[in-house]
Amino acid sequence: MDKPTGLKKGLTSYGDQGFSLFLRKAFIKGAGYTDSALDRPVVGIANTSSAYNPCHGNAPQLIEAVKRGVMLAGGLPMEFPTISIHESFAAPTSMYLRNLMSMDTEEMVRAQPMDAVVLIGGCDKTVPAQLMGAASAGIPSIQLITGSMLTGSHRSERVGACTDCRRYWGKFRASEIDEDEVADVNNQLVASVGTCSVMGTASTMACIAEALGMTMPGGASPPAVTADRIRIAEQTGTQAVQMARDGLSIDKILTPAAFENAMRVLLAIGGSTNGIVHLTAIAGRMGLEIDLAALDRMGRETPVLLDLKPSGQHYMEDFHHAGGMATLLRELKPLLRLDAMTVTGRTLGEEIERSGTGFQQDVVRPITDPIYPQGGIAVLRGNLAPGGAIIKQSAADPQLMEHEGRAVVFENIEDLLTRIDSDDLDVTALDVLVLKNIGPKGAPGMPEAGYIPIPRKLARAGVKDIVRISDGRMSGTAFGTIVLHVTPESAIGGPLAHVRHGDRIRLSVRDREIALLVSDEELARRAEEAPVVVPTAERGYRKLFLETVTQADKGVDFDFLQAPKMVGKVPE
Ligand code: FES
Repeated sequence: MDKPTGLKKGLTSYGDQGFSLFLRKAFIKGAGYTDSALDRPVVGIANTSSAYNPCHGNAPQLIEAVKRGVMLAGGLPMEFPTISIHESFAAPTSMYLRNLMSMDTEEMVRAQPMDAVVLIGGCDKTVPAQLMGAASAGIPSIQLITGSMLTGSHRSERVGACTDCRRYWGKFRASEIDEDEVADVNNQLVASVGTCSVMGTASTMACIAEALGMTMPGGASPPAVTADRIRIAEQTGTQAVQMARDGLSIDKILTPAAFENAMRVLLAIGGSTNGIVHLTAIAGRMGLEIDLAALDRMGRETPVLLDLKPSGQHYMEDFHHAGGMATLLRELKPLLRLDAMTVTGRTLGEEIERSGTGFQQDVVRPITDPIYPQGGIAVLRGNLAPGGAIIKQSAADPQLMEHEGRAVVFENIEDLLTRIDSDDLDVTALDVLVLKNIGPKGAPGMPEAGYIPIPRKLARAGVKDIVRISDGRMSGTAFGTIVLHVTPESAIGGPLAHVRHGDRIRLSVRDREIALLVSDEELARRAEEAPVVVPTAERGYRKLFLETVTQADKGVDFDFLQAPKMVGKVPE
């Protein structure tokens, strides 16, 4: 017997299938639908619009265009809400809620009758959450990115969130600008709805989604408020119907080849370090393990080609004007798995061919003249991070990438906030700032507090960078010599928990090493003297989170949400 489709899918249990469908139709007809409409392929549209999420502020227009596309292709669009998460409106941190959003997406896609789903996301955690959820739900799925915000202008200087937010805040902390100017620039940093305009996590995940084959070709780069973005939305709706008809389910797209392409693109765009955590989590849902050592090897042969802030100088809208991902993929072609399938039913190689020969532009560099000779992200190991750590070398100070210094330790975020700006803080520009307890369980939720501010007294003296180490993350819009994702984290007793003020730490990006120059015996003694108490919670989501969240090298997903069995590695 054929599997049920459309409205007949996933009937509610009343013990009588015929009655279940009869009742379902009766209710939907209350909204004025005809039998003819209800017979069509159903395309669910995950609506993540929220007053708390200006990065998704164009969702209503996108939904209208998706619906148009679905109906032009003869399908029935059905919009439904899911959780929405914005970076600046989620406490303690958006990452704490990513897995909840992925569960919401997965279960709503599963529970409601739909033959395909359009996932509308954009702000940092929403695209990974949707891809994780859709990967587990398994039906034909297509990602629609909300698109980047426009850039603004502050006293004739072009500005955009959030690299410039950090830069101006740094100037204010160093007393280089006054309260009036910082208030002025606050009005200009986010010039329209849409996602951050630099290569932060949102732009990174948009490019990764296209590299995975999960968006329409050209779906990553159009800004939120442009006609191009609306056109992509219409095409997305149309294509969703085709995917439903062809049975082009997500497992045919999220293959090892697709993840390998995504890793290449992450390196070549100087993408956010968060991209690795999210990619690992999405792959984990498909039973695939991202090989961090291989990612590092790929990094050595994959140059950074995209000249976008914070590694370069341009913004997302410039990338779009330069041809977007087609320009980048054309340049990266020799390094890509061209056989990877995409949502169009064509391979990535075929889509690159269809995009033509390109044109003169200066945002995507030719592979012979990269902006940075190696991939943006390096994977470090050593006795301080036996499970690995990462550094975004393309956004680091070259002078500090080979460095040994004295540890200045902060036990947690509160300790940091209390002391970092004190004139009494015992710190010099040659020291190494260490922040503990901001890992997956530590904060909890692995907040983006790894971008430890330069101590005020050093900032005032003109210091722009200092080596910083933590088990947390940092925003993709940040820059500096910053070691992140130290695994295992301090809150579960990783070596980072036992670093003390005055210890020596060596960072060598060249040797991919992060070493605490303290003997194993001494570390064991410290562990015995001050044993770590792993955080717990009494109830609710926090309890679920603390009991099941995995470490950074496993994607910070919940252990029970990963595929039950790992079936392969990426790259293969
Ligand atoms: Fe939403 Fe930056 S805050 S993309």
